[in-house]
Parts: sequence; C-alpha cells; structure tokens
Amino acid sequence: MGLAAYRRIEQLHLTGPVDVRSCAVKAEQRTFQVGTINKSWLYLRLRHEMPLAPKRVFRMKPVLCNYYVTYRCNAKCGFCDIWEQPSPLIELQDVKQNLADLKRLGVRFVDFTGGEPLLHPQLALFLQEAKKLGLRTTVTTNGLLYPKRAKQLAGLIDLLHFSIDSTDRDEHNASRGVDCYDKVMESIEVALSIGERPDLIFTVTNENIDQLDLIYENISKPNDLVLIVNPLFEYNALGDTLNNEVMDRMERFAKKPLTYLNPSFLDLRRVGGNDPSAPVCRAVSTCVVISPSNELVLPCYHYGLDRIDINGELYRLWNSSIVEEHRKMEGRHEVCSGCTINCYFEPSFATTPTSRFFWRSLPSKVGYGWTKFVSQRIDARSGPRPANLPLWIKRDAPVVSASSRAINKPSVSPPDVLVTDGPAEVTT
Ligand SMILES: C[S@@+](CC[C@H](N)C(=O)[O-])C[C@H]1O[C@@H](n2cnc3c(N)ncnc32)[C@H](O)[C@@H]1O
Ligand code: SF4
Ligand code: SF4
Repeated sequence: MGLAAYRRIEQLHLTGPVDVRSCAVKAEQRTFQVGTINKSWLYLRLRHEMPLAPKRVFRMKPVLCNYYVTYRCNAKCGFCDIWEQPSPLIELQDVKQNLADLKRLGVRFVDFTGGEPLLHPQLALFLQEAKKLGLRTTVTTNGLLYPKRAKQLAGLIDLLHFSIDSTDRDEHNASRGVDCYDKVMESIEVALSIGERPDLIFTVTNENIDQLDLIYENISKPNDLVLIVNPLFEYNALGDTLNNEVMDRMERFAKKPLTYLNPSFLDLRRVGGNDPSAPVCRAVSTCVVISPSNELVLPCYHYGLDRIDINGELYRLWNSSIVEEHRKMEGRHEVCSGCTINCYFEPSFATTPTSRFFWRSLPSKVGYGWTKFVSQRIDARSGPRPANLPLWIKRDAPVVSASSRAINKPSVSPPDVLVTDGPAEVTT
C-alpha cells in the first residue's frame, strides 16, 4: 500500500465504508466542520509503515511546537470546544524524549498549551527541560491557577500570557463560563510581584471590541504590559466572522505602543481566508503538534486528520513519508478553505518571505520581539513591582461599558483543581 493510494483516497473525499483490510492499514472516520462545510473523511493510517521521505535539500525546519499538555480545562469558553473532550495528561518521560527531538529538528519555541496548561502538576518540570535545551517557552493561561503556581513557574516562561476578554467582571466570566475574572487580576498582581512581565491576550469578537481601549487604558498601560490583540477565528462552527469595521478598528488601535497585532491575520480574513488552490497555510512545515496522548497530530490540531503514536520516534517520524505527504497537502484540504486559525498562520507568515503576509507581519513582530526580549528584559532587572490596577477593577464594583456580553453563557464557579504530585484531579 503506497502513499500515493493514501493520497488518492483522501483526495476523493470518500464518505462511505470501503474495505481496506487487505491493504493492512487502519481506517478511521472523523468529522470536521468549518463554517458551512461538514464532511466525513475516510483516511488511512500507516502506523507501522514509516518509510523515510527522500531527502529534500531545502526542507524547512519547523519553528514551533504546540505541545498540548492536556485537553482538559477548568473553564468553558464559548469560542473554544477543547474542554469538551476527555483527555489524559502528558508524561515526563515522553516530554524529555520529544523535547530532545524537537531541538534536533530545529524547533525554537515550545508552546505548552491546552486546554488549561496549568492543570498539569508537572508543568514546571517540562519548562525546565525545555529551557535546559535552550528552547524558548510560551504559556497562555486563563489565570485560575496561576496565583497558586506562580513561584514554581517563575523564570521558566519566556512568553507568559494571561487571557482576558473584558474589564467587566460579569462579561469576562460569561465569556469564560466560570468565575475567573478575579483570578486574572490576582495573576497580574502576583506575576508583577515576582518580577514577571506577562502579556495580556484579548480575543476580539464583534461584540467585545469596545473593551480594547478599556483593557489598554486600565490594565495594560498602567502596568507596562503588552496587550496582544487576538482576532477571533472560526472552527468547528464556533466563533464568528469578524466584520470589516471591527477589523479596521483593531488595526487602528494596534498602532499604539505596547500593543501587538499581526496585521496579516486581518489581511487574510479580508481575502476570505486560506485558499486551498493557492494555500498560504504552512501548518505542517512550520509547526509540530503533539497531543496529550503523545501523538503527532497532522496537519494541525483543529483539523486532526491523522494522529500517529510518537513512541520515542518523533525525529524519525518527522522525516517520514507520511509527514511529507501531509506537508504536500497543508492548506490544500477542502476544510482548509477560508481557514484563519491564528496558531498556524503566525508561523506560516513568519517563515515565508516570498509572501506579502510576511512583509506585512514583519514590523509588528520586530516590535514585539524588541519589547519582550530587549526592553522588558532590561526593565525586569529592576525586579518585582506592585501592580497598578484601578480600584473598580479589583473590587466588586461593575464597570460601565458600552459593549454587550460577548458570549451569553451563565457563569459558574470554576472546578476545584487539586494540584498533586500525581495526575491532576479535577473535581466539579
Ligand atoms: C486555546 S487557549 C489555551 C490556553 C488557556 N486555556 C487560555 O485560554 O488562556 C489559548 C488562547 O486562544 C484563545 N482562543 C480560544 N479560542 C479561540 C478562537 N476561536 N479564536 C481566537 N482565539 C481563541 C484563548 O482566548 C486563549 O487566549
Ligand atoms: S480557558 Fe482556554 S482552553 Fe479553556 S475553554 Fe477557554 S480558551 Fe479553551
Ligand atoms: S488551512 Fe492549515 S491550519 Fe487551517 S485547517 Fe487547513 S491545515 Fe489546518
């Protein structure tokens, strides 16, 4: 059974059952939905056949690893469905092997993500391992557990982000589906008090755009913290298409100092997203995605067409024909039409100098890099500093704002998370 057959079947978008037992391959069926597309895919997994791909002189090195430590989450955001699936937690032995292989492959950044990455009791150990290898580390958190874990994590995260959706307690909690606003504010205070310089990441929707200025003026600017302007993307029928006026506002806003927005994210949306006939997505070439079950996920987490057990062989797997086939197909699947998933377009744009998206992204990326790796590092030498948050943000007084609720979900208390030496236990 050759890879050409694998590709042919995949291209035919078969939806009915096909007897492929004689081919000694494993078939699985998955459903993936983007916007109006909802299609069943039959695909073949060549688990035990891992022929090495012919050596390519100019094969690009992946720059980023999205390492999903667990899909579990202690929040229930309306624009994200990862928390709905059961999930194990990654294991230290696998992490050590994979990080060594990632280094060999040329990866420079490891984003320990999820789900909620701080649910993993051994996150600090993973970060230490990555740092030992000279890899740069990124963690984004909803803040629920940060105050408890801050000291353990101090100095191990190069790019620490706290997610915030509103300065209005009720709006933020409604967006996250749990009461976590106060923990985000506490996380900012705790992080600054131990000398960290976290970024704030604000996922912009058509409904919460008015919060941009409020978050900037009241939280970001008084504390010298970068505000990452993160446009909402759609997947699995979640999220929404950002309207042009909202995108124009975001772009104008992001000219302010201490803000980061990749303008190419907006340009991509303006041209209708990724076009499978001329794809700009380089998800497979640039990004290694590892699942909590220690699988290599291809071509990206959000599509997840193929999941291959890593079993200590990430380096070999990455250079196999299976991955090469996925590389050839990146951005070319039917579901890739209109895709704007930021996680993959960030590295895709950053590594494609032949694309206009690269040049549009460049000034913002240089500016962000300068702030994080030069000016904030110099500033951090002055050590801990008290947070400067307005009283109405810290206390129970509601904020008067013009925006409506982003996602109108009832907010509930977050699950209790027991941080133990063993696997994290989450009880509701
Ligand atoms: C997937 S979360 C994982 C980390 C952590 N659970 C958190 O929310 O901070 C990483 C970031 O992606 C953002 N995000 C989730 N769904 C999104 C979507 N559909 N569009 C844009 N950003 C999204 C979250 O708000 C968060 O800032
Ligand atoms: S907190 Fe993060 S992982 Fe959890 S549901 Fe929200 S966006 Fe998804
Ligand atoms: S365009 Fe890229 S990121 Fe989007 S679904 Fe396709 S492979 Fe995944």
